[in-house]
Amino acid sequence: MAVSPHFDTAVDSFGASMCFSIWSPTGNSGESEQPKILVVDDHPASRMTAAALLAVEGYEVLEAEDGPAALNMVLECKPDVILLDVMMPGMDGFEVCRQLKQDEQTRLLPVIFITALNDRRSRIRGIEAGGDDFLTKPFDRLELAARVKSLVRQKRLNEDLDHAEQVVFSIARSIESRDPNTGDHCERLVAMGKAFGEYLRLSRADVRDLMWGGYLHDIGKVGIPDAVLLKKGKFTPDELEVMKQHVLIGEKICQPLRTMRGVLPIIRYHHERWDGTGYPDRLAGSQIPMLAQVFQIIDIYDALTSERPYKKAFTPEEALEIIAEETAKGWRNPKLVQEFTEFISNIHTLKSQD
Ligand SMILES: [Fe+2]
Repeated sequence: MAVSPHFDTAVDSFGASMCFSIWSPTGNSGESEQPKILVVDDHPASRMTAAALLAVEGYEVLEAEDGPAALNMVLECKPDVILLDVMMPGMDGFEVCRQLKQDEQTRLLPVIFITALNDRRSRIRGIEAGGDDFLTKPFDRLELAARVKSLVRQKRLNEDLDHAEQVVFSIARSIESRDPNTGDHCERLVAMGKAFGEYLRLSRADVRDLMWGGYLHDIGKVGIPDAVLLKKGKFTPDELEVMKQHVLIGEKICQPLRTMRGVLPIIRYHHERWDGTGYPDRLAGSQIPMLAQVFQIIDIYDALTSERPYKKAFTPEEALEIIAEETAKGWRNPKLVQEFTEFISNIHTLKSQD
């Protein structure tokens, strides 16, 4: 369905249900990748409040005033998240959620229930109905934005994956949360993998593998004992050998999944070095798969430009200098490093022109 950039109202033949797209920030017609949020509430005032807060966050907002209208809108407009009031005349929010979760086509649509503060009974019923999250009225803008953002991200990822893949990604996320030092490292790698991959004009499949690599490259850390993984300070030679196993463990975890094939080289080879002094196979030069080389530069750059408990965040210029020094030592592919340097310089020139 084309989504108008302006206030656009559609009333069904009985006039009983109504849904409208109130805002499309990009102003184009339905081709936008802007996440769509459907707000369902029989009270126009609460609906408008949620819609206004979401519009400020840059979402495209759709509205429905009752359960049947919401179900129609979901099929027609394919929202990314639904914000669902519990108490509505006729079909209540629980029933809407149950129907969505039972339907193969709509079961992955995340549902956030809007409940009254401390309404424990509604929360329990909401969980039973398959709801994904809860928000209480009056809305806290930051909480609303955080929950919607997280569920949009989850939904977009889930759409591309089958169940086994979802399990693998969940493991990868749990690894990241085990290591409090890395913050949103994976998310940044995914974004930069997409941007740099497109800059290099890689195929869509390669760009996707680079992005998945952002989540999955260190999944093998699930098999590394906490005493090593979370150790503060330098590793002993033995501990270092244990740590190096993460690339092999990761490869083993993802190997059985057909769609993960393209990511396996990133997982196994992201610690190789151009001069053959890396691990696990001491590959050198063009023996190292190209995607692993590309990914490695992104990974190192992000680690350098992020703050960690043991180091400050380097500026982009400082990080590029360190990478250049490592390249001079023979560790990285000089041609690729040059392209990466140009890519980063372009971004920062563009930013400074804003
Ligand atoms: Fe790693």
